[in-house]
Amino acid sequence: MIKATNIVWHDAAVTSAERQEKLGSKPCVLWYTGLSGSGKSTIANAVDRMLHNRGYYTYLLDGDNVRHGLNKDLGFTDVDRVENIRRISEISRLFNDAGLIVSTAFISPFITDREAARELIGTDFIEVFIDTPLSECEKRDPKGLYKKARAGEIPNFTGIDSPYEAPDSAEVHLETDGKNIEEAAAEVVDYLIANSYIK
Ligand code: ADX
Repeated sequence: MIKATNIVWHDAAVTSAERQEKLGSKPCVLWYTGLSGSGKSTIANAVDRMLHNRGYYTYLLDGDNVRHGLNKDLGFTDVDRVENIRRISEISRLFNDAGLIVSTAFISPFITDREAARELIGTDFIEVFIDTPLSECEKRDPKGLYKKARAGEIPNFTGIDSPYEAPDSAEVHLETDGKNIEEAAAEVVDYLIANSYIK
């Protein structure tokens, strides 16, 4: 719901299509979702590097980083997570409109929020489910957060005492078990090629 009154939408003089033509690529949003420690950021960064090296204009929004700035006023209650994802959806839409291949790496644990992002962004929303079992994420525990959560030191930790709602029809369902980073990233790149986002 819009709070402000007396505001009027202005159409931009330079259109989205004109920007795309100039950049020579088809923009999209790669929306990575998965548990903490599942490999979202690592795989998203690997894909982003591959795309950049092939000459595409990209931008990556990473959960932990965005929480240092734009979303530093938000924590991990359900309400704050919803607002986190709403803002990221809007930012992604702007970067997408600017003509970039956008990647977002947030747990984004709730189906309704990811569906709202899909609705906002439209047909070029590509959900990438980084499917790493909780047991594996907990074994890796790269930031030592699962250990702390199990000890009761981090409330509302996803997968422990806060839910993760897995997608059931993501455009890319990436099971990471037994795959290295390059193999995992290649699956995403292959999707982009198969669907004519890149050559
Ligand atoms: S989301 O749920 O709102 O999408 P987001 O991706 O921005 O989460 O941030 C998740 C990162 O914050 C995790 O990778 C982890 O490093 C850190 N974190 C700190 N507290 C929590 C928590 N309670 N639950 C999950 N992640 C947390």
